[in-house]
Amino acid sequence: MELPFAESYKIKMVEPIRKSTREEREEWIKTAKYNLFNLRSDQVFIDLLTDSGTGAMSDRQWAAMMLGDESYAGASSYYNLKSAIKNILGFDYFLPTHQGRAAENVLFSALVKEGDVVPGNSHFDTTKGHIEFRKAKAIDCTIDEAFNTTIQHPFKGNIDLTKLETVLSQHPKEQIPMIIVTVTCNSSGGQPVSMQNLKDVYALAKQYGIRVIFDSARFAENAYFIKLREEGYQDKSIKEIVKEMYQYADGMTMSSKKDAIVNMGGFIGFKEEELFKKACQFNIIYEGYITYGGMSGRDMNALAQGLDEGTEFEYLETRIRQVAYLGERLKKLGVPVQEPFGGHAIFIDAKRFLPHLPKEEFVAQTLAIELYKEAGIRGVEIGTLLADRDPETRENRYPALELVRLAIPRRVYTNNHMDVIAVACKNVYDRREQITRGYQITNESAIMRHFTVELTSAEEKAHVMI
Ligand code: F0G
Repeated sequence: MELPFAESYKIKMVEPIRKSTREEREEWIKTAKYNLFNLRSDQVFIDLLTDSGTGAMSDRQWAAMMLGDESYAGASSYYNLKSAIKNILGFDYFLPTHQGRAAENVLFSALVKEGDVVPGNSHFDTTKGHIEFRKAKAIDCTIDEAFNTTIQHPFKGNIDLTKLETVLSQHPKEQIPMIIVTVTCNSSGGQPVSMQNLKDVYALAKQYGIRVIFDSARFAENAYFIKLREEGYQDKSIKEIVKEMYQYADGMTMSSKKDAIVNMGGFIGFKEEELFKKACQFNIIYEGYITYGGMSGRDMNALAQGLDEGTEFEYLETRIRQVAYLGERLKKLGVPVQEPFGGHAIFIDAKRFLPHLPKEEFVAQTLAIELYKEAGIRGVEIGTLLADRDPETRENRYPALELVRLAIPRRVYTNNHMDVIAVACKNVYDRREQITRGYQITNESAIMRHFTVELTSAEEKAHVMI
């Protein structure tokens, strides 16, 4: 008999979590103005809000922290991180930052100006925010297959080369500071980009004299999918695949809180010395001196170790198989989920789940709230709230997909937790027809409203108006 699969680690430290009653949760979510970001973590049983900074560090990472060098300049921890970045990703120059969006802020301060266009595959919201904040435009060139959750395609993060070439040919080179390739593509569902696509995008970019930057938060998960799904990579190690991927990038921004399995941190990798030097000034103003950039020495040490562990096949296999385990369970129970399953999360297709709900009442948010009420599970809306308003018309942007993302923290929950999540989703699915009204906004900020938005039940609001 073939042995079943088991995790590639054992547990040395645990953190208690607490269940609550439905009545408690109904009260808490109301007080939170129906915004899941406003909940206290002890009001949540299984927290799937994000896989960012929520992972469990290994004993080796904790040990590395004890050896952190907190010197202001030239700390040994900085050099540890520098050599990990060189060895694993191949970049000669790098700047530490306190997280991914800080890396974007520093790099884009050096590169993006008003009127620019930045093509890419479904830019992440902070990336888009940093582009739009500079009065430039992010143009989505993802392949069409990504927007249909039922189509099976091994690399739904791929860039459509025809769409990309249209952008490159319609704008002068000076207006395109970079192409951003997000690996894996979070906004289209944690979907990977193939090596062939990375190669083709790079070749096209070079034809037009444009640089390519990888938004690299989940680069190792991308490499795992290349190994599993792309011909010619089965026998290569994750580290070999990663090295090859970065041959097709001129630079990278990194949120280390994901695939480098640390709780805080980020960096920028550069191949161009001149751009590195320009970015140094911004790093010093916004983040800190160039050898710490907002990170403690101990955190840089843990990050260097995390980059090494995060690019090991056994770790990635455990991680991605757990996400797929949840996906399979949901699929078997009839819950509509995006396929193929993403690397870091399962995405429930809220439009297929609640087809009768009007789009103006925030379909995915409604579903996320129902799931919280059902079992204390906190997912996140990737839909109309996140898509925000058009910066010019101020109208709501209705995205092609309304998703609830169930992001799985790394090395944190067991498959028993996955079973609870699956059954909770099924219970909500069974009573979906009783969910007839969604929510309305009572307060929102001008940019990135989903973090702070306040909502009220559309039904209650209708009563008040009568
Ligand atoms: N790029 C991608 C693809 C991301 O997913 C994120 C963060 C960032 C950049 C920004 O990095 O949070 O370190 O500043 N994503 C988190 C998420 C927040 O929940 O998916 P950060």
